[in-house]
Amino acid sequence: MSRLEVEHLYKIFGRRPETAVRWLEEGADRAELRDSGTTAAVIDATFDVREGEIFVVMGLSGSGKSTLLRTLNGLLEPTSGRVLFDGHDLTALGPRELRRVRSHGISMVFQHFALFPHRSVLENAAYGLEVQGVDRAERERRATEALELTGLAGWEKSWPDELSGGMQQRVGLARALATDADLLLMDESFSALDPLIRRDMQDQLLELQKRLKKTIVFITHDLNEAMRLGDRIAVMRDGRIVQIGTAEEILLRPANDYVASFVQDVDRSRVLTAGAVMEKCAGDADSSGRSVTMDTPIADLCALSADSDEPIAVRSDEGKLKGLIPQQTLLAALAGEVTHA
Ligand SMILES: Nc1ncnc2c1ncn2[C@@H]1O[C@H](COP(=O)(O)OP(=O)(O)OP(=O)(O)O)[C@@H](O)[C@H]1O
Ligand SMILES: [Mg+2]
Repeated sequence: MSRLEVEHLYKIFGRRPETAVRWLEEGADRAELRDSGTTAAVIDATFDVREGEIFVVMGLSGSGKSTLLRTLNGLLEPTSGRVLFDGHDLTALGPRELRRVRSHGISMVFQHFALFPHRSVLENAAYGLEVQGVDRAERERRATEALELTGLAGWEKSWPDELSGGMQQRVGLARALATDADLLLMDESFSALDPLIRRDMQDQLLELQKRLKKTIVFITHDLNEAMRLGDRIAVMRDGRIVQIGTAEEILLRPANDYVASFVQDVDRSRVLTAGAVMEKCAGDADSSGRSVTMDTPIADLCALSADSDEPIAVRSDEGKLKGLIPQQTLLAALAGEVTHA
């Protein structure tokens, strides 16, 4: 089921936005518009975000990611096109209904979100609930719970400046979780963190997601982060979405040279799974004991493969044989020569 549906969305800044949309529809490009003082930040974006998925929007600086995200919760009004949240057209809501949706249904976590320096960690985490008008006792209960979820139990009474950058970022996440909003919009939420802490936050988000099953739109300019987190990834370039797919699909079948050059430095062996590179076969092969599940990264197959020349069996979680990976195929996949999936 789709939580969010985005249909032919345009966001133009500058002069005569409606005219700019028409020109774009007629094939003008972004550079031509810029010459006339108009910025086409988002051009004809169409996609849906499914319940419970992490949908990543990835692109270089200026490609339109933040603008796109802000239209998803009504912070920005699209120049043209529609955003449906649970089937309701956000662009058609009045200011009051929109505020309600924004404070109850959708939560946003920013990159440098502002923690209030003179409020405790607990009060910061409870902020979204305060805006909703939830009473104090209930606020504190839910904020305490959210802090616990993000690994900050015990820090409730501390001040923001007593926390490391990573911990402050978790307070921001706790604030979003405390509101019970089940759509989270995260704009470069981990980008300011140093690499180890960033990885740690990614792990924690994935862990939380297993339990909470939120619907998340996560923005990043980092391809590795996109591939680690995204159930699906939308790649943006110059305001347009140029490809939407799983990490594997984007890696194996890039839609154009731009995406191909973007993904060329990715560690394929960590992203590609046994299920993606196996040669499909049904029925029963002998179980030599060398079998793996569909979602095992092929990096983990190397050790297995070193033991013997026999193909590796790939099984479903229920143990059914799905395919085989001959050593040749594994070597080809590791070398980047696999084209089927
Ligand atoms: N309020 C605004 N007024 C005018 N132009 C804007 C506005 N907001 C964004 N833009 C322009 O729209 C384009 C897309 O900006 P946006 O912030 O969405 O990109 P981004 O992909 O989030 O970039 P970054 O990775 O640097 O955050 C840029 O050219 C930017 O200058
Ligand atoms: Mg941005």
